[in-house]
Amino acid sequence: MGEVATITIDGQSYEFPVLVGSENERGIDIRSLRKETGYITLDSGYMNTGACISNITFIDGEQGILRYHGIPIEQMAEHSSFVETCYLLQHGRLPTADQLKRFSSLLNEFSLVHEGMRQLLNFFPLHAHPMNILGSLVNALSSFYPHVDANSLTEAIDICAARLISKVRTLAAYSYRKANGLPVVYPRQDLSYSANFLNMMFSSPVNDYVADEESVRLMDMLLLMHADHEQNCSTSAVRLVGSSQANLYASISSGISALWGPLHGGANQAVMNMLSQIHEDGGDTQKYIDMAKDKSNKFRLSGFGHRVYKNYDPRARVIKKYCTNTLEKGAAKDPLLGIALKLEEQVLQDDYFIERKLFPNVDFYSGIIYKALGFPTNMFTVLFAIGRMPGWIAQWKEMTNASDAKIGRPRQIYTGAQTRDYVPIDQRL
Ligand code: CMC
Repeated sequence: MGEVATITIDGQSYEFPVLVGSENERGIDIRSLRKETGYITLDSGYMNTGACISNITFIDGEQGILRYHGIPIEQMAEHSSFVETCYLLQHGRLPTADQLKRFSSLLNEFSLVHEGMRQLLNFFPLHAHPMNILGSLVNALSSFYPHVDANSLTEAIDICAARLISKVRTLAAYSYRKANGLPVVYPRQDLSYSANFLNMMFSSPVNDYVADEESVRLMDMLLLMHADHEQNCSTSAVRLVGSSQANLYASISSGISALWGPLHGGANQAVMNMLSQIHEDGGDTQKYIDMAKDKSNKFRLSGFGHRVYKNYDPRARVIKKYCTNTLEKGAAKDPLLGIALKLEEQVLQDDYFIERKLFPNVDFYSGIIYKALGFPTNMFTVLFAIGRMPGWIAQWKEMTNASDAKIGRPRQIYTGAQTRDYVPIDQRL
C-alpha cells in the first residue's frame, strides 16, 4: 500500500491515500471524506485544493518553472510558434511538419466568421470594452456554428477547437475596429496566424500595411507565453461551467469573463494604467511602493505577486528580455519601460515584498511590448485571451474526457438562521 494520510475526528481515525504526481507533488485524496466521515473541508480561494488531475501544464512556483507537456517555456519561446504550441496543447506532442501544415491550413480555413456575427457587432455601443465584446461574441458562436456538447465525437471537438483558435483572433480584431469606427478587415489565407491578426488590426483600405518580421515574432511569442497556466481562475471557470456539460463556446466565454478581472488577466491593462500614472505624477516610484505597503490603502502594485509563483515568474523573465531588446533598439523608446525597471529594482530590494515573496508576474512587462506594437491599452486583456484559448480548450477537453468527470459543485458551511416560520407581510415588524 502506498503512502496514506490519517485524519482523526472525535477519536476515530480515517486513512486517505496520498497521490503523487510525475514531478513528485503530493496531495491527499479526500474524495471519500464526506461519505466516510460526514465532514467537508473549507478552503476559501482554493489555496490548498487540487481540483483535478491533469497532464497538460506543470508549474513549480517555488522554483519558477513552467512547462507545457514537459517542455520548458523558455525553449518554447525560443524555438516554437503559437500555432505549434496550440497543436502541442491539443495533442500532447509536438507536430510533425505535415501535421503542422494540416493544422495551420485548418486555422486558415476557419478564419472567416459568419456575417451575422459582424452584424452583432453593430449593436454594441461605441467604446464598449473589447473584452465585453469578445466574451459575448464567443458565446454567440454556439448559435452560429454546430452545437458541440460533451458527448460529441472527439473529431467534432477538434474542429471546434481549431474554429475557436482561429476565429477568436478575427473577432478580437473586429472588436477593436468597431470600437474605433474603422472598417472591418477580413482575414487572409496567405498570412501566418500572428501576421494575419496584426493585418486585421492595423491595415487600412487607404494605406498598405505589412507587419514587419520582428513584430510578427513578438506577437507570436507573447501569445505562446500565455497559452496555458494550469488551474488558474479563468481555466477553473471554463472547467466548472463545462462540467455541467455546457458547450465549449459557452464554457470559454465564462473563462473570458473571469480573465477580465484586474487580479487576473486584466492586470496587464492595470499595469499600463499604473505606469502611466506614475509617469504623469513625476516618476516617483517609491511613493507607489509605499502606497502598496500601506494596509489602510487598498492600492496594490499591479503586475506583482502570484498565487503559485513564490519566485520570479518565468514568463515575466522571458518577456522582460524581449521588452528591453525591442525598446533598446530605439525605434520605440518608451519612458514607461524606465519606470517599470526602476519599480522592479526597488520592489525586489524591499523587505515587504521580499518577506511575502512578491515578484513581477507575466502582466508586468507584456503591456509595454503590446504598446510598442501599436495596441491600445484596452486591447491588452483581449490579447491574453487569444493566447490562452488553446489552454482553455485543452483543459475543457481533459475535464470532459476524465474518467471521474463530475459536475463541479462545492459545498459550504452554513452560518445563517436556523428554521423559522414564514411571517405574513402585515405581521412583520
Ligand atoms: N502589491 C502589494 N501587496 C501585495 C501584492 C501586490 N501586488 N500582492 C500581494 N500582496 C500582499 C497582500 O497584501 C498580502 O499581504 P499580507 O500577508 O500582509 O496580508 C500578501 O501579499 C499575500 O497576498 P494575497 O492577496 O493573500 O495573495 P493571493 O495569492 O491571494 O493573490 C494575486 C495573488 C495575484 C491576486 C495578488 O498578488 C495581487 O493582487 N497582485 C496584483 C494583481 C496582479 O498582478 N495580478 C496578475 C496575476 S498573474 C497573471 C494572471 O493570473 O492572470
